[in-house]
Amino acid sequence: MANFIVLLGPPGAGKGTQAEILSENLNLVHISTGDIFRENLRNETELGLLAKGYMAKGELVPDDVTNEMVRDRISREDTREGGALLDGYPRTPDQAQALAAMLEDIGGKVLCVPYIAVPAPVLVERLSGRWTCPVCSTPYHPVSKPPKVAGICDHDGAALVQREDDKPATVKNRIDVYMENTAPLIDFYQNQHLLVEVDGTQDIDQVSADLLRAIKARM
Ligand code: AP5
Repeated sequence: MANFIVLLGPPGAGKGTQAEILSENLNLVHISTGDIFRENLRNETELGLLAKGYMAKGELVPDDVTNEMVRDRISREDTREGGALLDGYPRTPDQAQALAAMLEDIGGKVLCVPYIAVPAPVLVERLSGRWTCPVCSTPYHPVSKPPKVAGICDHDGAALVQREDDKPATVKNRIDVYMENTAPLIDFYQNQHLLVEVDGTQDIDQVSADLLRAIKARM
């Protein structure tokens, strides 16, 4: 049975940072709904144009659109057989129900839900200092994760950019949207005994070590 790991946490908790490390360590496909939307935005697809307005304001893209996009990605052979690490999905109770139905259809299951806990003031500081690779989406930070060469991605040499939705007013709205729509999933998965809380304020390596230990204990 294919295992799916759901990375849960507020904006800026370090989901993307950790997903990169975990997917390499566990040899798992990394699916980030935010990255898929941003790629569609760059390519000016219909989906990208639809998502654009929501993302710019820090609002969620409607559930039906997001669920359909994830269903399409998850039903491919690599994930149907090998599972995946889900980063940024599900983000609402409706998405969590949709994911359960998708996994039932393909004979997969949620192995565990690591929740990266970080308080709001730390999130604001992290997101205002984040630089992202526009090609591979790797996030950097001048203090906690500087690139080897300033302003350049370690992996592909692309010039790093700041995300549109990392402006202070949008960050505040993203955190509010998270509290209202996504935080209820903590209880949802806790009730299924799938949640594992990790202290996301530690340095990046320590968070990875805690996550790997928690995930491997469930494998
Ligand atoms: P998305 O791209 O998913 O954004 P997010 O959830 O807001 O998460 P972020 O990417 O901002 O943060 P992260 O937790 O990955 O942190 P990171 O590792 O980068 O979504 C964007 C938008 O797309 C949404 O607003 C919505 O519009 C739409 N969308 C996406 N999914 C959707 C869905 N399912 N439904 C509906 N709409 C959806 O780290 C942040 C910074 O901190 C970096 O600079 C990093 O270097 C640094 N850092 C990381 N870890 C540490 C550490 N331990 N210590 C110090 N610094 C650290």
